[in-house]
Amino acid sequence: MAEFDVIIIGGGPGGYVCAIRCAQLGLKTACVEGRGALGGTCLNVGCIPSKALLHATHELHEVHENFEKMGLMGAKVKVDWAKMQSYKQDVIDGNTKGIEFLFKKNKVTYLQGWGSIPAPGQVKVGDEVHSAKNIVIATGSESSGLPGIEIDEQTVVTSTGALSLAKVPKSMVVIGAGVIGLELGSVYARLGAEVTVVEYLDAITPGMDGEVAKGLQRILSKQGLKFVLGAAVQGVDKAKGKNTVRYSLRKDESAHAIEAEVVLVATGRKPFTKGLGLEALGVEMLPRGQVKTDSHWATTVPGLYAIGDAIVGPMLAHKAEDEGMAVAEVIAGKHGHVNYDVIPGVIYTTPEVACVGKTEETLKQEGRAYKVGKFSFMGNGRAKAVFQAEGFVKILADAATDRVLGCHIIGPSAGDMIHEICVAMEFGASAQDIALTCHAHPTYSEAVREAALACGDGAIHA
Ligand code: NAI
Repeated sequence: MAEFDVIIIGGGPGGYVCAIRCAQLGLKTACVEGRGALGGTCLNVGCIPSKALLHATHELHEVHENFEKMGLMGAKVKVDWAKMQSYKQDVIDGNTKGIEFLFKKNKVTYLQGWGSIPAPGQVKVGDEVHSAKNIVIATGSESSGLPGIEIDEQTVVTSTGALSLAKVPKSMVVIGAGVIGLELGSVYARLGAEVTVVEYLDAITPGMDGEVAKGLQRILSKQGLKFVLGAAVQGVDKAKGKNTVRYSLRKDESAHAIEAEVVLVATGRKPFTKGLGLEALGVEMLPRGQVKTDSHWATTVPGLYAIGDAIVGPMLAHKAEDEGMAVAEVIAGKHGHVNYDVIPGVIYTTPEVACVGKTEETLKQEGRAYKVGKFSFMGNGRAKAVFQAEGFVKILADAATDRVLGCHIIGPSAGDMIHEICVAMEFGASAQDIALTCHAHPTYSEAVREAALACGDGAIHA
């Protein structure tokens, strides 16, 4: 029986980052992972493989749509799906092996197998029981699916199956216009599938700024995605070669059906804590299945902590990573902190969508006086040069103090540009602070500065 200061259960972005930070802080650390590879959903069947497919299919789009415009002539490229899949696998392997290397470098013990907690201070992996002064649950989440829809991961799939389809389907129905639905829907639309997104609400991307949701829907529609909004999916009838998705429109309760070769169920995820033995330990859970934690990620059982998708908050890899680092600091007797007001969200469509802080809708609800500085990428020379002038940057600032309260971007590299705003918000900056900062020309980031200028005396290129 080995003894550790900390054992982390789960080797995803929350767990592996927590393990590395614990080891860096001088704690004897182990990390348990059962899927045979580190990196969790994110690296194996989520963020990273989807970005590989989004990159490959974006390049395909560029060849078909923009190469001739730039004088790049020649035969059109064809898709070798098996080769695209093996490229995707190489990307996954490179990343997961990288974490194994980081574990060795930082002297984190990698315990392979599914872990459970038979008693406080004990973690069982296979037949072995290890003791730990502290245990961190970082077991992530799983697709929540829809009642009455049987997932086979062949033609009725979650994101996991959608990343590894046997072939590119001719048609696909995506249930849910959230992040997964729009990213993977984009991949298959670019590969030539007829993609229809069926969404329960009257707008796509729930929780995002309303203007961004509308703008993105318009852009994706131009790219060929079809949307059926205000539609509650009731079931999928499976038959050989095709599936029929049944839904009713909320406005008049009329019944409809749509056929597709593949159905992607992207209606959200739920915490994954099965098999840990939490019930027997008496760990308090929340009604939606999350582990209840206090502001220091401690559960109701002493010495047991939880982070990431298994607890409340946005189900995002970077939120889990931040909590992993912070709880490591807490366990090491230092000060761990996560600023939940400044967690960016990104959708990796083309153009990308990125947001941080308040939306106009939440500011209105709160009754807070705010001003809007908006700048279109039509006024950005760099974006125009690369056929990416759709979209805008919108900065929301306090009407009285000019303090930046939020930012919403649709545009090229939005997911990278948003961090300028994150840093500004962490420092309590005003829109004028950003407007007075020299931004290199020609860059997409100039649009951020112009939006900041628009909060004051006005943008220059608008
Ligand atoms: P989501 O919560 O983002 O969206 C699910 C959508 O399904 C909602 O719009 C909801 O209204 C709709 N829906 C639910 N029931 C329905 C029904 N019966 N009929 C029609 N529509 C229905 O969930 P998603 O896209 O599955 O993502 C899961 C989690 O993974 C999210 O927390 C997301 O943030 C995270 N994720 C993040 C990524 C990123 O940061 N780029 C990429 C992929 C996932």
